[in-house]
This record gives sequence, structure tokens and C-alpha cells, in this order.
Amino acid sequence: MSENILVIGACGQLGTELVESLRTIYGDSNVIASDIRQSEHAVFKQGPFENLDILDKNRLSEILTKYQPKQVYHLAALLSATAEAKPKLGWTLNMDGLFNVLDAAVDFKIGKVYWPSSIAVFGPGTPINHTPQNCVMDPNTIYGISKLAGERYCEYYFQKRGVDVRSLRYPGLIGHKSDPGGGTTDYAVSIYHDALQTGVHNCFLKDNTELPMLYMPDALKATLDIMHAPAEQIKIRSSYNLAGMSFSPAEITAAIQQYIPNFKTEYNPDSRQAIADSWPNSIDDTEARKDWGWKPDFDLDKMTKDMLVNLAPRYGSTLPSL
Ligand code: SER
Repeated sequence: MSENILVIGACGQLGTELVESLRTIYGDSNVIASDIRQSEHAVFKQGPFENLDILDKNRLSEILTKYQPKQVYHLAALLSATAEAKPKLGWTLNMDGLFNVLDAAVDFKIGKVYWPSSIAVFGPGTPINHTPQNCVMDPNTIYGISKLAGERYCEYYFQKRGVDVRSLRYPGLIGHKSDPGGGTTDYAVSIYHDALQTGVHNCFLKDNTELPMLYMPDALKATLDIMHAPAEQIKIRSSYNLAGMSFSPAEITAAIQQYIPNFKTEYNPDSRQAIADSWPNSIDDTEARKDWGWKPDFDLDKMTKDMLVNLAPRYGSTLPSL
């Protein structure tokens, strides 16, 4: 396969791993990573990198003219906690960034666009357990409002402008290769680092706050599968519900204690508690399973073992029970 692919927001938690996977499939030189600044991660030295502020339309046009990509993954956004702290920037970056990409998809005849949505599109009025694809959606965070509006724009551009845009409502993403930033679900990444480094995690959510989560290998599989599926199989052009597992801070703590018995979590909920309380406990992803064959591989225990095995060397830990 020799077509060019542009990843915008490539240096974030998902982008870093997605660039690595895409380069394995399409070749290093065919995957153009771009972000407002380059991170130190080795994957960005293996192929083209372009500095891009997605609010700069001219720069986006320059890059599209240079590489003529057939696919664009647009991942640049402020996540939930950061967007609450910087609401104007959150709205502008999340919305204008998407408009720039969708308009460019029309102008440059980009074959396929990927844009992530989130469980943050749901709100306090949404059914909290096994949240269906279509239901009351009343997000009360800037991030959630921007993602719900973005979903409507994606469907609009598909219907009215013929843009083949595909999207997933990600749960909290957990991985060991790249760090998250600014999300409410991020505790579920730092808890593994803390377990290995200090043996204590200071959790910003309450012990029983259950949230939908997804392990990064599953997130990458879902993202590549929806992008590689024939267009007629993609029946939902707003964004698909997607589920992996659901757990609370107390449950992930217990899963880690199977390997590190002395590990402890202390609970000091902050403003992120209210954000978490407005989101579902679990997600019904029937449509994704039916339309393009989605099925996750990881549950909490399998993910916990994999996270600890992969992170242990970084902290010089030897975990005999792993
Ligand atoms: N993981 C994101 C966040 O917590 C939700 O999409 O902001």
C-alpha cells in the first residue's frame, strides 16, 4: 500500500500509538505525523513530521498540497478537564479544527477522514448503564458539547458534501506507550505507574465511580477496522458507541493488588468527579459489533497484567507473580 496518510495531533496519547501502527501497515514514509510541536518519542524520527497548528488553515493547505494524503486522522483536541479549565480554547480548537479538516476534505478530495468522539457526548439525562447508541444526550462539559456538535457536523458533511468521515465514541483510553493529558479517565493510566513507582495512588475520583474504558490495543484495532471497512458497512456517520470494559477505581485497585498486594489507593476527589458523574457507567456497542464486526480482546484483568508487564522494567520492578 503506498497511499499517503496524514495524522493531525499525532503526538498525543492515541496519535503516538496510531502513527506507529499505521507506519507498520503503510510504511514509514507514507504516514505523515503532524502536531503543534514534535514530541521526543522515537516513532516521530522514523518518518515525515510537519509542524501544524490545526487552526492555521493555510498551513494545513500547504501540507495537503505537499503530500496529497488519501486518508486524514484528525485527533487534535483539548480533553475534558483541560477544556473545562480553558473553555474558549477548548471550543475553538475542537470545533474550528474539525471545520478546517472537513472543509479541506472537500477541497482536496480526501478519500477518508477519521475523527474521534467520546463517551463525553452523554450527560446527566442519559441512561447510565449500557447506554444505547441513540438516547438523551445532554453533555454538560465544553468537551462533551464540542464532541456532540462535532458528531452532527460529521454526519452533515457526509450527507451534504459526500465526505467519507468515520468516528468512534471512545471510552477512557489506557496504554503504556504514551501518556494521556487532560482527561477525566487518565487516573486509570497513572494508577499503574504509581503502583510500580511508589505503591500509592492518589485518586481524583471516588472509589465507586464506574466508567467505560478501553485498552489501547483494542482502541487501535477498532480505529483501523472502522477505517478499513467498506464504506457501505459504515451505517452510522455521526459516531459509533464503542465498549471495552467498565470499572471503578476500587476495582482497578483490586486488579493491581493481585500482583502488588501492598498497593493502596487514597481518594481525594476534585472537580473531575462532577465530570465523571455526568458520564455513563457502561456502553452498549451493538451497532459497531453488527456493522463492522467490533469485538474487544481485553478485560480488566488481562489489561492489568499487560500494563504491569510492560511498565515494570521502566521502574526497575520485578513482579514475581506476573
Ligand atoms: N478520556 C476522555 C477524557 O477523559 C474522554 O473522552 O476527557
